[in-house]
Amino acid sequence: MTDARIETQVVRTRADLRAALAAAPRPLGLVPTMGWLHDGHRSLMRRARADSATTIATIFVNPRQFNEAADYQRYPRNEARDLAICTEEGIGLVFAPSAEEVYPPGFDTVVSVGAVARPLEGAARPGHFDGVATVVAILFELIGAERAYFGQKDAQQVMVIRQMARDLAIPTEVIACPTVREPDGLALSSRNVHLAPDERAAAPVLRRALLAARAGWEAGERSGDALRATMRDVLATESLAIPAYVSVADGRTLAELDRIENGGSALLSLAVRLGSTRLIDNEPIG
Ligand code: PAJ
Repeated sequence: MTDARIETQVVRTRADLRAALAAAPRPLGLVPTMGWLHDGHRSLMRRARADSATTIATIFVNPRQFNEAADYQRYPRNEARDLAICTEEGIGLVFAPSAEEVYPPGFDTVVSVGAVARPLEGAARPGHFDGVATVVAILFELIGAERAYFGQKDAQQVMVIRQMARDLAIPTEVIACPTVREPDGLALSSRNVHLAPDERAAAPVLRRALLAARAGWEAGERSGDALRATMRDVLATESLAIPAYVSVADGRTLAELDRIENGGSALLSLAVRLGSTRLIDNEPIG
């Protein structure tokens, strides 16, 4: 537990945000979130706090990044609990805007990142990364933080945001932080709350599949097909787990690899449906 005496100031409008930031000591560290905060978010907040004189978190369930309306509707929300967590973590400022504040009437721009946004989550969830890149570009511009913190859990998201910031000449540095997991290996996610008990029991299969492929790579396997087959075989041991994709991709471009070259980096990743819940995880290698 960190300093619980700190006051967390909550602002909801662009004008109040600007006023609060004018007086804020620098450097400024930003942690963007969609709320329903868990230990993964807390780890980003701790890292941001350690690096920054002022830490700001944003809580905004961004409608533009949900490619299914039902997924947006049922996304878990509890602002009072989220704000208590921000205070526990010593977050000085929270920006919790309405959708109209982020996207004022007449808003008509999309930030669409190229190649790195197309495969994997981009292919599985059309429009998702346009929504992410657009909202994060707005937040970066409104907040002007020296650094912003994101989870490696969403590895492709980090790559998309880095590309967006570089191309739009936004000077905020994008920092990737390690994935926080449950003791059984399941990556923490706001969506885990939707898992039924049998689905929750099956969910560590994602991690097992990734670790089996990593073990294969460590034992010298370099074939992309062989490593993808290893992941599929492990996923097949859980009848509740329906794979959406398994991937062995280039660590910089996310292009699917026939072979992992020695000295090259790769990203093992997968998306799996458990009942009505879709989970993702990944493991960087090399
Ligand atoms: P959200 O899913 O709330 O996640 C906020 C941040 O927490 C992201 O950077 C995400 O990668 C990170 N995170 C989630 N689970 C984590 C875990 N188990 N370990 C470490 N970090 C984890 O990602 C989003 O929101 C949105 O797309 C957002 C970037 C806020 C744009 O709307």
